[in-house]
Amino acid sequence: MKVFVPPIKSQGIKTKLVNWISSNVGNIQYDRWVEPFMGTGVVAFNVRPKNDLLCDSNPHLITFYKALQSKEITSGLVKNYLTKEGEKLLKSNGDYYYEVRNRFNSEGNPLDFLFLSRSCFNGMMRFNRKGGFNVPFCKKPNRFAQALITKITNQVENISQIIEFGNYIFKNQDYKKTLKEINPNDFVYSDPPYIGRHVDYFDSWSEEEEIVLNKGLISSNAKFILSTWLSNKYRTNDYVFSIWKECFVSTKEHFYHVGGKETNRNAVYEALLSNIKLKDSISNFEMKSRIELNESQLTTTEKKHEVPLQLAMALEEEQKYLNKSNT
Ligand SMILES: C[S@@+](CC[C@H](N)C(=O)[O-])C[C@H]1O[C@@H](n2cnc3c(N)ncnc32)[C@H](O)[C@@H]1O
Repeated sequence: MKVFVPPIKSQGIKTKLVNWISSNVGNIQYDRWVEPFMGTGVVAFNVRPKNDLLCDSNPHLITFYKALQSKEITSGLVKNYLTKEGEKLLKSNGDYYYEVRNRFNSEGNPLDFLFLSRSCFNGMMRFNRKGGFNVPFCKKPNRFAQALITKITNQVENISQIIEFGNYIFKNQDYKKTLKEINPNDFVYSDPPYIGRHVDYFDSWSEEEEIVLNKGLISSNAKFILSTWLSNKYRTNDYVFSIWKECFVSTKEHFYHVGGKETNRNAVYEALLSNIKLKDSISNFEMKSRIELNESQLTTTEKKHEVPLQLAMALEEEQKYLNKSNT
């Protein structure tokens, strides 16, 4: 299935999981799709349920999508804006990026948010303690060349149309508030930040929050899927077998290369946890025993070779930690 990629980028974007999730929810009946952690919204925009409640604690994401919905931002406007601002970026040899960043941090214009998301280092989304966007420039003054502007303009157009033909409600709120709004006939896709990693102003997560999320999802009586990781060479995500012990587990395997060397190829398992049996899921108990017996943790056949950025960053941190503890 062709995946429609949103114009906003983030390290947590689940573009590579969209088809996996879609294929698991295709036959399920529900009234409304709810995401307490919508991020870029790529999952909902591709599953395309009729009714959606998409929420996030990051106000800039919600402002951006609300502006698409109200047509305050259109593809035509984005094209003109990026052409004009892209020229200034090129003329300044890249310095203009920091002017836009300062302007965004004082005014919060959604077009500036798009500009930063598409010209910052690695398409990352990070905010400092005061809530200011703090990712540096990608160091390509010619970043907004015609081909990229066309690509972004098309992305804006596609997502605007998806929003126009659905019944989307976007809310800037904490997941605890969203949990209270879930009905038993909703389907919830939950993609919280990884516990204890990438702490940033709108995006930090603790064990206590994972427990609150678990309790809220279970007591809502709605069907849900939660995205997380299961294991890598060094560690297993034990929360899968404690906090989420009542869930079925479905996994996908990714490979990453340590230090870019083909010979140091390690596997990492990404997981979908659910309170319903997914197409290829196994019970939590069975997964636990597979791990204990050193058997395959893979429940799907498809293998991907590119690790999503969020996972790659987590693995990099892991590696740094291990290197430190070995010296
Ligand atoms: C892993 S990302 C979600 C990525 C999304 N599924 C996508 O594909 O783009 C986690 C999101 O949770 C949001 N978030 C973090 N803490 C939150 C909280 N307490 N309440 C609501 N959203 C939160 C972050 O702003 C971030 O957008």
